[in-house]
Amino acid sequence: MDLGISGRIAVVTGASAGIGRAIARELVANGVSVLLAARGADRLQQAEFALRELPGAKVASIAIDVSTPEAATRIVDEAIKVFGSLDILVNNAGRAHAGGLLTSSEEDWQEMTGVKLTSMRRMCKAAIPHMKEQGWGRIVNMSSIGGIYPNPKLLISHVLSAAINNLTKSLALEVAADGILVNAIGVGAVATDNWANNMVPAVRKTRPEFAELSDEEVVAKISAECTPVGRAGTPEDIAAIAAFLCSGRNGFVTGDTIEASGGADRFM
Ligand SMILES: NC(=O)c1ccc[n+]([C@@H]2O[C@H](COP(=O)([O-])OP(=O)(O)OC[C@H]3O[C@@H](n4cnc5c(N)ncnc54)[C@H](OP(=O)(O)O)[C@@H]3O)[C@@H](O)[C@H]2O)c1
Repeated sequence: MDLGISGRIAVVTGASAGIGRAIARELVANGVSVLLAARGADRLQQAEFALRELPGAKVASIAIDVSTPEAATRIVDEAIKVFGSLDILVNNAGRAHAGGLLTSSEEDWQEMTGVKLTSMRRMCKAAIPHMKEQGWGRIVNMSSIGGIYPNPKLLISHVLSAAINNLTKSLALEVAADGILVNAIGVGAVATDNWANNMVPAVRKTRPEFAELSDEEVVAKISAECTPVGRAGTPEDIAAIAAFLCSGRNGFVTGDTIEASGGADRFM
């Protein structure tokens, strides 16, 4: 399917790994010029070089922490400087935080809110004037199924996911008449570094029978238990949905949170 976005310009945050990297690849493969953003310069550069291998690729990157106050303006300014405008924004940077209210700290709350929600609000605010100017724009916000099905094992992440879904809906209504479509993806378990680093340690604490298993085996077991389709998702599963939502083929879906979880309503 031709997505009808060749020549468009995108920013993808959290684009150096996992889901963000797969989304950036899908967009570049569809002729979109992409500015990749993430903190770690080495991994970011590796992702940029890998994408440059694709035919006709136009890619740039900016090493930046999206939770800092100046990040949104700096990222959008960079996209305008390098590519000339901005049509597509994918707010994907972040991670999960395993824990309940009583087992998480003030710092956990502040850090997670900064990277997941505050940065998203700032990125949208910085990007939308450029989209309005041209009467076309697409925004995709990375949320989780926890925004729809809260789970006390991931309280902060799921409170923030609900807020992301709400922000997405309100913003979609605010800019619908400007040709800008805003959607979220309610992601289920997707096997990435995020899972290995932030979820597997929490799973191991309650499942002593997994002691001898590798992280990959733990993810496979938990995914088979919790996910009706019987497997963890792949970054490419999510990238295909994001690319459609960002595309010219999507003209009528806005304000929605697409559940992409293999039918699951929980992670663990
Ligand atoms: N995987 C899942 O099962 C799952 C489920 C639900 C929701 N999600 C959401 O999907 C998104 C992508 O997750 P993933 O699984 O692909 O994670 P991942 O593989 O760990 O990749 C995360 C990306 O975000 C970047 N990042 C993290 N913090 C950042 C910050 N403060 N500023 C800029 N970039 C930052 C990372 O690079 P640096 O560390 O170098 O900055 C990396 O590029 C996240 O928002 C996550 O919450 C994932």
